[in-house]
Amino acid sequence: MCIGCHGIPGYQATFPEVYKVPMIAGQNAKYISAALTAYAKGERKHPTMRGIALSLTEQDIADISTYYEQQAKVAPVEAPIAPPADIKALLDKGVCISCHGANFNKPIDGSYPKIAGQHPDYLYASLKAYQTEGRPYVGRGNAIMAAQVKQFSHAELKALGKYLASLPGELRTVPQSKFR
Ligand code: HEC
Ligand code: HEC
Repeated sequence: MCIGCHGIPGYQATFPEVYKVPMIAGQNAKYISAALTAYAKGERKHPTMRGIALSLTEQDIADISTYYEQQAKVAPVEAPIAPPADIKALLDKGVCISCHGANFNKPIDGSYPKIAGQHPDYLYASLKAYQTEGRPYVGRGNAIMAAQVKQFSHAELKALGKYLASLPGELRTVPQSKFR
């Protein structure tokens, strides 16, 4: 089931907004589990992912998370990358690096996501989602990120998404046949 969206390069979600389905291969297993649990609990409102997450048992989530973490193994870029001045000001204001780690690939905890190289339109949609509360089909309730994104305009979040997407990342979409 997951392959039909997360295994197709460039696949777009069209509801409730158009953006590319996030890359999950190479993501931290603990974060994948946390995200799936948040959809199941309704903390993340995305309707399709909610339905899917609710159909999974705890064991399914654990197995799938380990599988996707190992699906793409990309050598990390160790040399620090310096952001342009305008972006640096935004990153400093949000102390983003303090949690998401060097080059946005080494979060301080496995339950935090790698975000470097993720799709720019998805990053923007996810950042906006943390600003959105009390709506039935959009938004994410997460105390940590809600506090972060509140201080930024949509234009600033878009610029952050575009920058983060431009970094060399460890996330991939691994194409797979559904008929194996
Ligand atoms: C119909 C398409 C579709 C299918 C099928 C699907 N997903 Fe998703 N998935 C999405 C979209 C779209 C998002 C982004 C939702 C959002 O904005 O929160 C997403 C988000 C996620 C996330 C959060 C990623 C992140 O960076 O926070 C995880 C983890 C995930 N999906 C795992 C799975 C797994 C595992 C399966 C199979 C059991 C699956 N998905 C099936 C479309 C799909
Ligand atoms: C105090 C720690 C902390 C700080 C500071 C922080 N983040 Fe996060 N970030 C997190 C956590 C934890 C999550 C996962 C939340 C969840 O489970 O939905 C997250 C999620 C995200 C996501 C969603 C990724 C996805 O795959 O859906 C993006 C994008 C993001 N952060 C970008 C940023 C940016 C940009 C900044 C600075 C403006 C920032 N973060 C600052 C901890 C932090």
